[in-house]
Amino acid sequence: MKGDQIVNGPKVYHMGKDWKRSHRCGELGPGIEGEDVTVAGWVRKVREFGELTFLDLWDRTGLVQAVVEAHTPELHDLIRSLRAGDVIALKGRVRLRPDDMVNRDMVTGEIEIEASAVEVFNRSKVPPFNVSDKAKANDDLRLRYRYLDLRRDSMQSKLQLRHELVFAVREHLSGKGFLEVETPLLVRRTPEGARDYLVPSRLHEGKFYALPQSPQLYKQILMVSGVDRYFQLARCLRDEDLRADRQPEHTQIDIEMSFISEDDVFALAEMLMRDVFSKTLGIELEIPFERIDYDDAMLRYGTDKPDLRFDLEISDCGDLFRESGFDAFRSVIDDGGVVRAISFEKGIDFSKSQIKKLEKSVKESGARGLAWIRLGRDSVDSPIARFLSEKELDDLRIRFLPEDVNGTLLLLVAGECSLVERSMGGLRTDLGNNHLLDGSESFKFLWVNRFPLFEKGDDGAWQPAHHIFSMPLEQYIDTIEDDPGRVRGHLYDLVCNGTELGSGSIRVHERQLQEKLMAIIGIDRDEAEKKFGFLLEAFEFGAPPHGGIAIGVDRLAMVMAGEKSIRDFIAFPKTLSAKGLMEGAPSDVEPELLDELHIGVVMRNDKE
Ligand code: AMO
Repeated sequence: MKGDQIVNGPKVYHMGKDWKRSHRCGELGPGIEGEDVTVAGWVRKVREFGELTFLDLWDRTGLVQAVVEAHTPELHDLIRSLRAGDVIALKGRVRLRPDDMVNRDMVTGEIEIEASAVEVFNRSKVPPFNVSDKAKANDDLRLRYRYLDLRRDSMQSKLQLRHELVFAVREHLSGKGFLEVETPLLVRRTPEGARDYLVPSRLHEGKFYALPQSPQLYKQILMVSGVDRYFQLARCLRDEDLRADRQPEHTQIDIEMSFISEDDVFALAEMLMRDVFSKTLGIELEIPFERIDYDDAMLRYGTDKPDLRFDLEISDCGDLFRESGFDAFRSVIDDGGVVRAISFEKGIDFSKSQIKKLEKSVKESGARGLAWIRLGRDSVDSPIARFLSEKELDDLRIRFLPEDVNGTLLLLVAGECSLVERSMGGLRTDLGNNHLLDGSESFKFLWVNRFPLFEKGDDGAWQPAHHIFSMPLEQYIDTIEDDPGRVRGHLYDLVCNGTELGSGSIRVHERQLQEKLMAIIGIDRDEAEKKFGFLLEAFEFGAPPHGGIAIGVDRLAMVMAGEKSIRDFIAFPKTLSAKGLMEGAPSDVEPELLDELHIGVVMRNDKE
């Protein structure tokens, strides 16, 4: 038998027509009982049962079981010699399994192939982990042998989901008159928030290209070109601190439109999301999505990406403690701080150690402490009860115990406003995730809009909260310089289930206003000319009013699949320290290559 020869020495096999597949493994079912088929794929498992040997063969469409009987000794021996990972083709006749052998967990579980011939294309070394969804494997090993990891069914279905979502996006936007335009990967460095990946120029000594953090400027310039409706599945590269929902390379559904308002962008993105969810998941989203002002979101949910699958809201109750005998609260209010509370009815029975855990996580986010009050209609249990007057307790009851509620656990944090927002936001998310969500919830989209245009950086200087190309709301335009921190913009985020999926804005389209915004973040006219001259110049040649949005494909796929990390939705992702473990990137390069690029490397930490 030909297949046997490969055991004895290397042999190059070509897919001769004898071994052309007639079916994919997962396509076989009772409908083709009695037919002769040829399938090909990877051996998953070989099991011997007395006279019978079973082989599970896998391809992307599923697993199928083949069986061989000992009375064909040559074939039987060959199949018994196969190991997980070997690549083969197999011929045989499809037959129904006996009733008691039907496997309902397998797509092809009602049938099996009675094998008559096998061709071995390639033997595999013993895989470093069990390539099956049931077996756990260490994360680094999975990345190091990504090609094996991707052979798991769960990983294949993630690739499939991503493909279907991207396909639906292209179909939807093309149908709405959008043009897909590719923009350069080697770009001029223009500051955009994160650190750039730089590419040295061989032809221009000492000069560098940057890899794009996003196609922001190009898509705006395409509006000046009259493209009117642009989109791109754009690869974006950012050298930033990585976490579960951030990779150095990600893909955006990047969109820009001319002669539109914020409402038009919202309507477009809502219809796009509805179509994508319907086509890929069969879920009909309700549109329009809820809208919340940034300031309102920070007050009620302590975050600009609230998870609205649960209601739990944060309340300001500084007014109740203005005259309080409880120093820790009153002094904070006197100093201009805030006191915020979450009323968590389900927490009324929390043990002290459960509350301690909450306190610990609140402190980790920077708060000085967490005060708690177990508040009943006629009872109170709290370490701070002795500092509170009867009136304060009654006021708390009026606010937090509506008629149908007999008791609640009040959780309070006092301090500087942004710090309290952050810690209460974290507390709300923890309580919701651990006690209010049960996995049966659907998708809760919302828009957070009217973001601040500027925020203070660590050095105390103003910096753009998003990017510097966003239009301030009309009422601030004449007085921007007076108090940049107050200025709110036509700036919005698309949020789903507590994850920021997309971000965008209506853009500035006039040179003068653009220069004014740049001046606030310390870019004077000369510097603006140097860094963004090409955009400012384009604005002088008839820039239409325009705006857009970019939605992260990796995050969208992650949220659609109900997962918490984008890594599995990227075929070849990096580790948290930005390494490609499979290919070994980044790597050293030959000194001659560096020479050609006019680069000298100085090692700061000489490790060996
Ligand atoms: P922004 O920087 O907010 O906006 O990015 C838009 C969306 O892209 C996704 N995203 C990421 N996904 C994975 N890893 C990352 N490191 C990463 N960074 C961003 C998120 C995010 O919401 N040019 C503007 C858009 C515009 O104004 O039109 C931009 O890039 O889902």
